[in-house]
Amino acid sequence: MSKQYVYIVQSSKEITKCKIGVTDDLERRLKDYNNMTGKSKETVYQYLFTCEVRDMKQVENDVKDEFRRLREEKNREIYFYNKDLFEDYVKYIKSHKTFVKEIFIKTDVQKEEVKKVKKTTPSLEERGVTRKDLLQKAQKVNNDEFYTRYEDVEKEIEMYDAEIWKEKTVFCNCDDAVDTEDDRKTSAFALYFIRNFKKLSLKKLICTHFSGGIDLFNQGAKGYIFTYIFTKNGFKGLKDYPKGYTGSFDDPFSLKILDEEADIVCTNPPFSRAIDYWNIIIESGKKFLIISNFTNVITHAFIPYFRDNKVWAGYNRVDYFFTPKKQITQASGHWYTNFPIKNRPKYENMKFIPLKKIPAKYKKYDDNKILLVDNNYIPNDYKEPFAVSAYPILSGLLEKGYKIIQGEEYSYVPSVNSKQCFRRTLVQKI
Ligand SMILES: C[S@@+](CC[C@H](N)C(=O)[O-])C[C@H]1O[C@@H](n2cnc3c(N)ncnc32)[C@H](O)[C@@H]1O
Repeated sequence: MSKQYVYIVQSSKEITKCKIGVTDDLERRLKDYNNMTGKSKETVYQYLFTCEVRDMKQVENDVKDEFRRLREEKNREIYFYNKDLFEDYVKYIKSHKTFVKEIFIKTDVQKEEVKKVKKTTPSLEERGVTRKDLLQKAQKVNNDEFYTRYEDVEKEIEMYDAEIWKEKTVFCNCDDAVDTEDDRKTSAFALYFIRNFKKLSLKKLICTHFSGGIDLFNQGAKGYIFTYIFTKNGFKGLKDYPKGYTGSFDDPFSLKILDEEADIVCTNPPFSRAIDYWNIIIESGKKFLIISNFTNVITHAFIPYFRDNKVWAGYNRVDYFFTPKKQITQASGHWYTNFPIKNRPKYENMKFIPLKKIPAKYKKYDDNKILLVDNNYIPNDYKEPFAVSAYPILSGLLEKGYKIIQGEEYSYVPSVNSKQCFRRTLVQKI
C-alpha cells in the first residue's frame, strides 16, 4: 500500500495564504503545482511542511473542521497564513492520531519562529490566547492590512489645487508610522507629506502609529504621535509617546489633535472600522481626503453622507495595495473627500440618454418595478427613482442634477424574478 502524506505548500506570490493538502507522492504533487502555474522566478511553490500519516483523508477532514474559519476559499483547502497560524497548523497535524512522522519543515520559518518566540512573542499558552482569538484577529487583520502605495497618494493629491495645503496642518491618523531613517518603515502618506512639505507650504504634519494589529512598519507596540515642522534651523520631526496612548484614531489624544490642530485629515483607515472612522471625521467638520471601500456609495451606513453632500468621490480609484509583507495585492478602494473636485474627468464615463435609447441589456425593472440601469447609462428623461451601481455615483452623477433618495436603514438589493442582484443605490432626477 502506498504511503500517505499531508503537506503545507505555499506560492511565493501569495505568502499570506497556504494550502494544506494530501497526496501519496510529495515530489509529483510539488511538480504539479509548479507546472500548473508555469514555474517562473516570481511564482514558485514550495513545501513549508510535509509529514507522513496513516489516514490522510481523515487528517484532511479534521484540519478542515478545526480550521474552517481560517479557510480563505470555502471550496478549496486554502488557509490564511502567518507564522503563528503556521505553528498552529503544524502542531495540530503533528498531534493527530494518525500522524506517523515529520518529513520536512522549512527551516527559516522555524528559525524565525524560534527567534520571534525568544525575543518578542511568547507561545499561545504563555500569551493566554486561544486559537479562536487568533483566528478572529487574523481575519480582522486580513481585511485591514492593506497598505497604500506611494504612487497612489501622489496621483490623487496632485489632482488638487496646491493652495488647499498652504499653511495647513495635515493629520494622518491611521497607522501612518514614520521612520526618519528608513522610508520602508514609513507610511506612504507620511512619506508624501514629508517629501513635499515645502512644495505644499504645509504648516505641520502630524502622524500617528497604531499600537494594535500587525506592525507593518516595524515601529513597535507603542502608539506614538509624530510631529513634523519646518523651523529656521531646518526640518524637525519629533515622536511623542503619551502614557496610555494607543494610536487609535478614536483615542482621546487623537481626538484632541483632530479637534484642536488638524485642518486636513488624510489617510487610509482600517476597512473594519470605516463606519466609526467616517462618522468621527465627518462630524469633526474638518477637510479630508481618504481612501475607503469602492462600494461605500451603495452601502447604507455611508449613503446618507453622499446624499447630504458631506462627502463625494475623489478623482481616482485605488486597486492595488501592499500586504504586510510588502507584496502587491488587489482590493477595490476609492478616494473620498470634501474638497471641491474640478472638471471631474469621470463625468465622461456617464452616458446621459433617453430611456428608450438605452440598450435593452443595460436596463431592466426589478420585482418592485424599479428601473435598474447599468454600464453607466443614465436615462435623462426619466423622472421616477431608479437604481444604479457604485460606478455612476463615483463618476459624479450627484453633481449632474441627480440626488440619492435612500436612507441609512437599508442597502437597496433588488430582485429580478425573485433572484437577488447586486446592491445599488436609488437615485432620482432633481
Ligand atoms: C488600511 S491600513 C492603512 C495603513 C496606512 N494608513 C497606509 O495607508 O498605508 C489601516 C491601518 O490602520 C490600522 N488600524 C486598525 N485599527 C485602528 C485604529 N483603531 N486606529 C488607527 N489605526 C488603526 C491597521 O493596523 C492598519 O495598519
